[in-house]
Amino acid sequence: MARDLKTSRLATIYEGTDVDERTLQQGQTKRRRPRSKAFRLLGPLILLACLHFTIFNSSSAFFSGHQQHTVRVPIHAEKTLSRCRDLSRTPGPSPSFYSRSTSDRFVPGTKPTLLKNAKIWTGGANGTEVVEGDIFVDKGIIKSIAPGLGGKRFAKEIRELVKSGGIEIVDVDGAWVTPGIVDSHSHLGDYPAPALSGASDGNSHAGLTLPWLRSIDGLNTHDDSYPLSISGGITTALVLPGSANAIGGQAFAIKLRETKERSPTAMLLEPPADLNGTYRDTREGEEWSGHWRQMKHACGENPSRVYSGTRMDTFWAFRKAYDTARQLKEKQDAFCSKALSGEWTDLGEFPDDLQWDALVDVLRGRVRVQAHCYEAVDLDDLIRLTNEFKFSLAAVHHAHEAYLVPEVLKKAYGHPPSVAIFAANARYKREAYRGSEFAARILSDNGLTVVMKSDHSVLNSRYLLYEAQQAHYYGLADNLALSSVTTSAAKTIGMDHRIGYVREGYDADLVVWDSHPLALGATPAQVYIDGIAQLASPFTSHTKDSPTFQTVPEVPDFEDEIKKAIEFEGLPPLGPAEKLKSEGNVEEVIVFKGVESVWMPGVGQNGEVEVQEMFSAESVGSEHYGSVIVQNGTVLCYGDITTCSLGALSSPNVHVREVDLKGGSISPALLSFGSQLGLQEISGEASTVDGTVLEPLKGDLPSALGEGKEAVIRAVDGLQFETRDALLAYRSGTTRAITAPTSSSFTSGLSTLFSLGASHKLEDGAVIQEDVGLHVAVRHFGKAGPSVSTQIGVLRKGLVDGIDGKGIYVDVVKEKIPLVVEAHSADIIATLIALKAEIESKSSISLQLTITGATEAHLLAKELGEAGVGVIFVPSRPFPKVWEMKRLLPGPPLSKDSEISLLVKNNVTVGIGCEGSWAARNARFDVGWAALEADGQISKSQALALASTNLEKLLGGDAIVKESVRLPELVATEGGELTAFEGKVVAVIRGRTGRVDLF
Ligand SMILES: *[C@@H]1O[C@H](CO)[C@@H](O)[C@H](O)[C@H]1NC(C)=O
Repeated sequence: MARDLKTSRLATIYEGTDVDERTLQQGQTKRRRPRSKAFRLLGPLILLACLHFTIFNSSSAFFSGHQQHTVRVPIHAEKTLSRCRDLSRTPGPSPSFYSRSTSDRFVPGTKPTLLKNAKIWTGGANGTEVVEGDIFVDKGIIKSIAPGLGGKRFAKEIRELVKSGGIEIVDVDGAWVTPGIVDSHSHLGDYPAPALSGASDGNSHAGLTLPWLRSIDGLNTHDDSYPLSISGGITTALVLPGSANAIGGQAFAIKLRETKERSPTAMLLEPPADLNGTYRDTREGEEWSGHWRQMKHACGENPSRVYSGTRMDTFWAFRKAYDTARQLKEKQDAFCSKALSGEWTDLGEFPDDLQWDALVDVLRGRVRVQAHCYEAVDLDDLIRLTNEFKFSLAAVHHAHEAYLVPEVLKKAYGHPPSVAIFAANARYKREAYRGSEFAARILSDNGLTVVMKSDHSVLNSRYLLYEAQQAHYYGLADNLALSSVTTSAAKTIGMDHRIGYVREGYDADLVVWDSHPLALGATPAQVYIDGIAQLASPFTSHTKDSPTFQTVPEVPDFEDEIKKAIEFEGLPPLGPAEKLKSEGNVEEVIVFKGVESVWMPGVGQNGEVEVQEMFSAESVGSEHYGSVIVQNGTVLCYGDITTCSLGALSSPNVHVREVDLKGGSISPALLSFGSQLGLQEISGEASTVDGTVLEPLKGDLPSALGEGKEAVIRAVDGLQFETRDALLAYRSGTTRAITAPTSSSFTSGLSTLFSLGASHKLEDGAVIQEDVGLHVAVRHFGKAGPSVSTQIGVLRKGLVDGIDGKGIYVDVVKEKIPLVVEAHSADIIATLIALKAEIESKSSISLQLTITGATEAHLLAKELGEAGVGVIFVPSRPFPKVWEMKRLLPGPPLSKDSEISLLVKNNVTVGIGCEGSWAARNARFDVGWAALEADGQISKSQALALASTNLEKLLGGDAIVKESVRLPELVATEGGELTAFEGKVVAVIRGRTGRVDLF
């Protein structure tokens, strides 16, 4: 390390830009007025000489021993010295920051606010401190946290404000209040939504190491995500450049609220001083070195793939860049050492380089380095780099293998980095393949700081809290789960002196929640940023008023799975522990005890198939839970002990297995739709996926396929079994999927219904129905694709041909299979509704049309209901990824209705799906969440139908649905319901194959 410049004793004369303020500086803290007459003459002299001047100085102690000394002091010497002194200072708040009475972000005119009767999770005491009381907010700052009118200190002031009407008083009635959610990894504004070619500024392709680039320079203020993310409680985000480069550039923290100035600059939180070309943030009379800089690094596949070719190239690029920075740093240190000793003679200018300055600052410990880095090899490379060049990391991001190599991270230079991860999003590329839902827990067991991040819009940061909830579900302690998106995230970006806690003196960034923040579906009732309420008229759900939603969910025990994740290096066996099936004359009977509720598919009063509640311990007034007896994969009976007991079944040939569900449930197994589940193992790896269907509209269909019905592509022909996403979905209660051929254009093909628990295609029950629906997409595919009107034209022609008994739509017009059209735009959906009427008017058929994707379908809720067109929302909670999704219905707290509840109200059959195959496992929570958002308008039965019977109806039609009633596939959960954080899947009951799988 360079010697500590702070301790250099020096005496010299400086000349600042302001000649009148010249002073003699002695040491680094003492300032005094010049003493000798010579000084007073200097001003005019300098003005005349302009560049350098010479004086004789004999008054300084520093020069004692010298008879006479000649110093050539450059103009701007003060700035240079000040900059030299700053080089070794650790950034952070200024000394006066802690006594601030007004936030630098305060918006004049904002009324003070008193939040009364809050249950405050403060972030203190390692995330375990909860305080009940009132929060008094003024001038953008939390002024007090105390019981009753802001405590003694402020009671008088508040009483007067009340009298004058100068205060907002909000009684939150015992609601949970947390600090605003902090997202340490976002691309908000730099990749704005909806995505348009004119504003995609997240990644430069100008080179591999670009430390001089700044995310602020691309920060768009019109991103539709800002209000959506705020509605999920996000108040601050670190906007990072993308990961196509080893060093992608500098990151900036922003607050998400609108500003009066409407500029990106006004959104910045504590920008470093270099942003406007100065080097000191020092206020008058203060010695401090300003705010943190932030920088993005990336290793592994992205920079290698995009720019360099191999990991070796990427790391050489890192080393080369750091060596450049090191050399510049040494020059600067040598310069400053002399300058601070007053040895100006022939010293020249401070060795500066606008391009490398930020990377030099990394070496000086003045930058929070945020490194996108996944695998053991990359993490090891990166940690080696930190030790070679002696800089520390704020966090490794994504880091899907970090939990496998905690000791590597502990060897990082300075201190171990935080680990910023997703909860369950993994396997999308090779380096994410070993990602584990238990990573957060394992990392915390190793003493590493865990941060959950969105990588917005990879995940919609509106739901960042859901990542913390899932981490908690899979074993992370509740205090750490909440810290992971508040205090730990704030620390990781160097802002924990003002955000990430509910504390006096902190920024008034607060979220009032409608339930405990770790409860599924927790939604802000209000969000404050800098003391300003962000939600104009928030809607919240009263279904969450019950005590279960107001406490930390009692999550299941995953200790075994956690051990296995490590033991098997991220690839633990995922299949069932046992597959029970009667063989020969031995009957396998399973008795599920401790059953709280039973839901099964059945035929309702109107003749429609629906999910029905068959038994509920609570509703039958039973003191004891019920039981369910299953033989050959079929439910023999359910109910309390008197109505459902083994009785006659006891015989020597009967093997009885008891499974205690401890208050759990039996529910319909869920069905996944929307992803490429079953057609891929790792979506980013071409050699593991079925591939994309060729588009006949572009004329690239091989003639070998021929024409007519045989030419249609069938997903069943490309099925892969035992993919990890399939097995994870299966053990999470999503046991079947309907998948259509992978398409990037209009034409897809026939979807297939298959089991996610089968080992191979030829196994009994692996393929449940070979061909299900005929799929196309009518979308804005851009210049490369056929126009929307061409796509509609082709569809019309196909359907008319079908009526004539020709082509691939014959089975659709014969009403044998549904026509499934992916469409998001309300205009396209309206055209499809009209096309259905047109075709039906030409013949006597009733076309079964299902719209998937359907982001804007809510605008046609009535019309869809009247036309009998069903809708599958993919994803189940909307995001305006592209223009045709812009007019979404956000749901609570921004709108009273959710898209799902509105369509259900309009008698539309609604299903839900997911986009990534990794997300198939989460169907259970998507279902639970949909019900919670609907504020009682959707029952639990209806919610379960969204991802079971409704999907069967919408994609398959009658035959499949009836089969599901006859031989249902069911899931047993322990400890709670399938759709809640309390439940854990312990068995799958497979009616069709007569098998029960136990985990
Ligand atoms: C913080 O909480 C975690 C989880 O409850 C615990 O394991 C850890 O020891 C705590 N750390 C401190 C410093 O108290």
